[in-house]
Amino acid sequence: MAWRTIDRTKVSPEEMGPGLSAAVREKIQAFFPRYPTKQAALIPALHIIQDALGYISLQAMEDVAELLELHPSQVMDVVSFYSMFWTHPRGKKTIMLCRSLSCELMGGKNVRDALVEKLGIKEHETTDDGEWSFMTEECLAACEHAPCMLINEKLHKCVRVEDLNRILSDPDNDKLEMPRSDLFDAPRTAQT
Ligand code: FES
Repeated sequence: MAWRTIDRTKVSPEEMGPGLSAAVREKIQAFFPRYPTKQAALIPALHIIQDALGYISLQAMEDVAELLELHPSQVMDVVSFYSMFWTHPRGKKTIMLCRSLSCELMGGKNVRDALVEKLGIKEHETTDDGEWSFMTEECLAACEHAPCMLINEKLHKCVRVEDLNRILSDPDNDKLEMPRSDLFDAPRTAQT
């Protein structure tokens, strides 16, 4: 595939997407005391942005670059490196299916094929009703429960094709007592 050059000077405001709200900026800034430099707070900052906006827009990349005194291209480098960061809007729930060895050996490919057929979307796509997005990922660190998948942050273990209708129709299929995203709540008081 040939390289494609994108002229970012001609991006429309719609394509830039939403920027950072005051609340999101404040939440990111509250992380600064935890790190030796502002730049080191980039990963939690990106999680905070994605939790707030659902994805990392181009405007959000520019805003967080300014906030952390980075070049926007450095932010884009990080966003494009990690597959868990999305650069376009996601559905309300994201299914992340493991594609690594243990899960493949235990029938992960059948689950993937069934999910693609049921949802009618391919990887990194979103259903027309905005409910579901789908992606595969390398080992989810739950190999003993292969094949497994996450719905948002909730792990579903030993998933079989015949379990999918039940799992997908359960309104609580993404509910957790302690969401991982709570880890990105800033400390209430500055640390010394
Ligand atoms: S191989 Fe699937 S969780 Fe490790």
